[in-house]
Amino acid sequence: MTPKKKSEYRVPKLKDFSAKTLDGAAGKLLTALKEESEALLSEESTNDLQHDDKWRQLWDVFKTFRDRWIARKDGIATQIKDMWLMSAPVDRKPDVGRRFNELRARIDEEVSRAESALQRLQRDEQNWIIETDPAGRSFSTWDDALKATEGVDITLPGIRRPLGAEHPVIKTMNEMVRVFRNLGYSVEEGPEIETDYYNFEALNFPPNHPARDTQDTLFIANQESKPLRERLLLRTHTSPVQIRTMEKMKPPLRVVCPGKVHRNDAADATHSPIFHQIEGLAVDTNITFCDLKGTLDHAMKEMFGSSVRTRFYPSFFPFTEPSADVQISCIFCGGRGYRDGAPCRNCKASGWIELLGCGMVDPNVYGFVDYDPKKVSGFAFGMGVERIAILKYGVDDIQLFFNGDVRFLEQFA
Ligand code: DAH
Repeated sequence: MTPKKKSEYRVPKLKDFSAKTLDGAAGKLLTALKEESEALLSEESTNDLQHDDKWRQLWDVFKTFRDRWIARKDGIATQIKDMWLMSAPVDRKPDVGRRFNELRARIDEEVSRAESALQRLQRDEQNWIIETDPAGRSFSTWDDALKATEGVDITLPGIRRPLGAEHPVIKTMNEMVRVFRNLGYSVEEGPEIETDYYNFEALNFPPNHPARDTQDTLFIANQESKPLRERLLLRTHTSPVQIRTMEKMKPPLRVVCPGKVHRNDAADATHSPIFHQIEGLAVDTNITFCDLKGTLDHAMKEMFGSSVRTRFYPSFFPFTEPSADVQISCIFCGGRGYRDGAPCRNCKASGWIELLGCGMVDPNVYGFVDYDPKKVSGFAFGMGVERIAILKYGVDDIQLFFNGDVRFLEQFA
């Protein structure tokens, strides 16, 4: 679409340089400018363009327009400078010069206006996505979208987008958090990339202590130049949130800390390098092991049903003293150890299933957070969320939680 040849505007020679003549000439020039610029994107000029090539063609047309008006060598702006301004008699130069500057500015303005209009149009058209296409297709141009709707029966019912649902691990985590919220606990979170200090040292794992080996830690590389306590790692448990919470809150406190943790474990049916834990911490005056037992017994009954019993088995964690593993009576065989005349596979015929670790907060830990162990006492516990979900839902492979297979996941919706 080059401007129509017949009526194409040409810069006229001026008969004289009177204000009247100049006004008339400027008027004609501006009209031509406006018409040509508008024609650039008019329907007639874009209609018969080949679609694939449309934007290249439109930009070519724009460039022709731009050069015609402002090309340095022989553009219209240059022509009026030569033919009007340069040839004006000396006494008319100031007036003609002023008019020339105005015209030149108008021309520049119109060219850049046309350019941005074209840019905007192209961007809008190319970003345009018809989201509601029944087959779930998306289109970047109107033409494509229109072509695709030919032959579509618009009286058919619409597509219902399937609703997502909570992931079973998150669902289990939320259920457990709710049990504790109902007991007055609040929720705290901490970072997944932790320092050695929070993950180990302040939890009473001294440097090189063998208890560190029980947590197959993934360290961030190239930290050797930092002091040990500042080195970064992926937290191996949610226990560091205990320290972070006690640093910012004074007793009494009762918190649960749900979150993701990482260990250098090979994936198999019962291990995953990424899993989730819920940490609990209660610190107050006169908190005893009885409070710990009562709280966890209640929580297990809420989670697994009121007939579940709990058993506390001596254990060791550096940050609790005494420490215990909590076992619940096997939910598959009712704690009998036998089911349908055969040994129960889920509890290995013991009648008990080990579920979480707990204990009374070790007084050494209070030393790291400026709590007075003579005045306060408390308990802590930590449990694996996947482990609970596996038991609750009878899932036989932890990997199913992470593979993202919708057929598995939608059973929990
Ligand atoms: N952090 C421990 C782990 O990941 C679990 C644990 C045990 C947390 C005892 C506690 C606790 O708060 O008191 O193995």
